Amino acid sequence: MKAPVPIASPTQLEARAEHARLVEEIAAHDVSYHQRDAPTVSDADYDALRRRLEKIEKAFPELAGSAVSQQIGAAPSEKFAKVRHVVPMLSLGNVFDEAEVEEFVARVRRFLGLGETAPLAFTAEPKIDGLSCNIRYVDGALTQAATRGDGFEGEDVTANARTITDVPHKLHGRGVPSICEVRGEIYMRHVDFAALNERQAKDGEKTFANPRNAAAGSLRQLDSTITAQRPLHFFAYAWGEMSEMPAASQREMVKAFAGFGLATNPRLALCRGAGELTAHFRAIEAERSKLGYDIDGVVYKVDDLALQARLGFVSRSPRWAVAHKFPAEQATTVLRKIDIQVGRTGALTPVARLEPVTVGGVVVTNATLHNEDEIARKDIREGDTVVVQRAGDVIPQIVEVVADKRPVGSKPYDFPKKCPVCDSAAVREVDEKGEADAVWRCSGGLVCPAQAVERLKHFCSRLAMDIEGLGDKQIEFFFEKGLITTPADIFTLQRRDADPASLTKIRNFEGFGETSTRNLFASIEARRSIGLNRFIYALGMRRIGETNARRLARHFGTFEALRAAARAAKERGSEARAEINNISGVGDVVAEALADFFAEAHNEEVLDALLKEVAPEPMAAVKSDSPVAGKTVVFTGALEKFTRDEAKARAERLGAKVAGSVSKKTDILVAGPGAGSKLAKARELGIETLTEDEWLARIGEGT
Ligand code: IVH
Repeated sequence: MKAPVPIASPTQLEARAEHARLVEEIAAHDVSYHQRDAPTVSDADYDALRRRLEKIEKAFPELAGSAVSQQIGAAPSEKFAKVRHVVPMLSLGNVFDEAEVEEFVARVRRFLGLGETAPLAFTAEPKIDGLSCNIRYVDGALTQAATRGDGFEGEDVTANARTITDVPHKLHGRGVPSICEVRGEIYMRHVDFAALNERQAKDGEKTFANPRNAAAGSLRQLDSTITAQRPLHFFAYAWGEMSEMPAASQREMVKAFAGFGLATNPRLALCRGAGELTAHFRAIEAERSKLGYDIDGVVYKVDDLALQARLGFVSRSPRWAVAHKFPAEQATTVLRKIDIQVGRTGALTPVARLEPVTVGGVVVTNATLHNEDEIARKDIREGDTVVVQRAGDVIPQIVEVVADKRPVGSKPYDFPKKCPVCDSAAVREVDEKGEADAVWRCSGGLVCPAQAVERLKHFCSRLAMDIEGLGDKQIEFFFEKGLITTPADIFTLQRRDADPASLTKIRNFEGFGETSTRNLFASIEARRSIGLNRFIYALGMRRIGETNARRLARHFGTFEALRAAARAAKERGSEARAEINNISGVGDVVAEALADFFAEAHNEEVLDALLKEVAPEPMAAVKSDSPVAGKTVVFTGALEKFTRDEAKARAERLGAKVAGSVSKKTDILVAGPGAGSKLAKARELGIETLTEDEWLARIGEGT
């Protein structure tokens, strides 16, 4: 056992407790960040915790020597250092067809004042689909590697770049400039990508969508031993700062790089004119699927560096280069099945499950179908043979159905009217103009597992229940553990935790501990009673944002009154429907959303459970006959009789709308001392202006 630390004063006692809590919390964040690559706090919050710890240790040096705080102090830095590029890393303009290639060549000739027959050479090379990197060599030794970032400032990835075998630690051969910044593309080969994803999946880690994401994710690892296990490659094709130039042309520069020991792309060709460029483009395109890595076009560059210098740049792209992009790739395959995915807002998104097909070197098994209308428009059916398209980053899409391959007896697709995850009814909303929304949504907001986590986050968020200590990460954690799945569970958490039969104790979870668990329970307890408007907003009903929640709260005064009206409002043309519809600022779209929510039995169940735990505070219903109901009011100047927030709340309670600036729509300006431009503008527009006292008299609260 450790010797007890002498306690001189209650302040020190507090400091000790606080110190212990901070050490525990920071250690938990460190584990999440460094070992799981899944940060649980923002960088700013983490830094604040660290600063607080330092402060306490400064004031109470006896706490600082502990092994734990030293261990924390030694944790690797959270972020990559920023690197300012000496020469900015620019981007390329695009062309898509032969005519545009000709135009590019003509433009270059025009700019240089070259006649049509004067010789002009270009290089043409594959455009590698990876991420560009600047690698700095000083006297032949690799000193720094940086990502492109925003083109002006990137991230220092030196340790990681050193693990790439195509990137030599030392340049060799003759004529290496003393400062030599090599630029090129870091990429991952298809075989390595597939193997990495397989390994990730087996380890229960996240898989990558494409080789470029995998390359980026691998390069941006804080731990370079991880990068070392991910086979990355590099092609050098450009440069940044150079103390002297080893060659006078683009092609010779790349050759020089190869001579220094850098990897360069073997498919670089010298072309004279648009015809040869396009021919090389076709040749590369034909080889594309056999290259073993992703490319998305061919880059053309004026070969002569003196001409490059004359051509210069337009905004952020060189005039002397252009990227000729491949058209979207297409392939034909069979659509086996249409599945429905549920997004976090409950949107039901149809996904085509395809017979695997290679599109541009990538195996495609799924394609998005967008929504019901899209399926109907293209008449896409299960069993159809379809044309699939993949364009760059975009999720594969179905272009069309091959009509003459449709199996006999196929039926048009019938979009489900129920959520495939929770079986609640799906609804397709109608907007103000009476037009149906393109998206079907699951109405089981509170019980649909697909939506539950996001809804819970909303429920606890600052403008809703504002439960401190239950942030997004914690909610995900409790949801995963099965401890919180509906809002009511939040309020029964402590009871269940205290149950001697319960096997999981929250204080034993990593990152919780005694103090934070106690704090969490306290902040939950504090919300057992909550303003009606916050409670309504927290339910996360469609179209019921903070403002509408307040309007409804003010109109109905109690949750039960709102609930009764919403239930009765299911019927269009009902009195209840009209009542909601007539609330100032609330329209039929909101009335319908409200009715839909309460018509869903699942939601009612969840609500009943929640109302056993939480009591929404009744609110004084607004007098709709107030003299300022429906009026738009602006407060300005230094108010003396009430604070601005107070004035706003009171005016809104009386049915007025409070605006921040004066316009033609303003009805009343309340001006305190020192009112300036707003008062002048109101006078100019002939808007009624009142002093604070006059305002109080108007609303019947004057003395
Ligand atoms: S030259 C001044 N050559 O494409 C521009 N870029 O769209 C220098 N890229 O950020 C770039 N392969 O990441 C050049 N052979 C190649 C390339 C290439 C891929 C990327 C690079 C650049 C982006 C511009």
